[in-house]
Amino acid sequence: MASNVRLEAILSMLRPCDVLLDVGTDHALLPVLAVRGRVARKAIAADLRERPLDEARRTVARYGLVDRIHVVQADGLRALESLAADAVVIAGMGGALIRRVCEDAPKSFECVTQLVLQPNYAPEHVRGWAREHGWHLREECMIHTNGQYYTLCAFVRGIGADPSYATIACPDAVKLEVGPLLLQRKDPLAKRYCDWQKSRLVRVRAKVIVAPERLEAALKRFETACAYLA
Ligand SMILES: C[S@@+](CC[C@H](N)C(=O)[O-])C[C@H]1O[C@@H](n2cnc3c(N)ncnc32)[C@H](O)[C@@H]1O
Repeated sequence: MASNVRLEAILSMLRPCDVLLDVGTDHALLPVLAVRGRVARKAIAADLRERPLDEARRTVARYGLVDRIHVVQADGLRALESLAADAVVIAGMGGALIRRVCEDAPKSFECVTQLVLQPNYAPEHVRGWAREHGWHLREECMIHTNGQYYTLCAFVRGIGADPSYATIACPDAVKLEVGPLLLQRKDPLAKRYCDWQKSRLVRVRAKVIVAPERLEAALKRFETACAYLA
């Protein structure tokens, strides 16, 4: 299998598990990597649409893993209504969609002990949902591949407030957008990402006529983050 930096990074955020559910699996490459790499004993590759599911079935068959990877059609976390999993990955979607999927979880989601979420953008929705629903950040990282920045967050269940947020002297909105653990360790790639966002926002500021206050607020958040990460 050709190496995929983003999927490998997601895999590295997972702790060994029994059954992994990959929501929005598309090509099912992540479940294949997880099972072949012995990170998961078994996996469920779930997607909403027929075309990705066909692709997923082909991938699973190609790697001879039909007995260890179950390909199912399911909306969000609904696969958990009939199939048990202890770990969930949701990757490659916008942060708001990932948040909606998590909010719509069935009762059986209670059996899940670890979550790895990789929003393509708007990670604040993901961190915000986790913080409000008893999931604590275990690890977070950024990668830059194919000209894009990606945020990866690994969560475990916790009691009370997530301590990751306690030690950073930044506004909450900055912590949710950039990540408390990335801020805490002054992550160099997070700094590059914030610098890039700042320059991008300054460039679009000249052209924006609708809701400039939202742009100014975003710019302020990244300026604050850059100052913290410097
Ligand atoms: C851009 S692909 C990401 C594929 C893969 N997770 C990755 O990171 O490479 C998004 C996939 O999510 C699926 N999807 C979108 N909304 C979904 C939902 N509510 N439930 C399950 N799958 C969904 C789409 O059909 C598509 O295959």
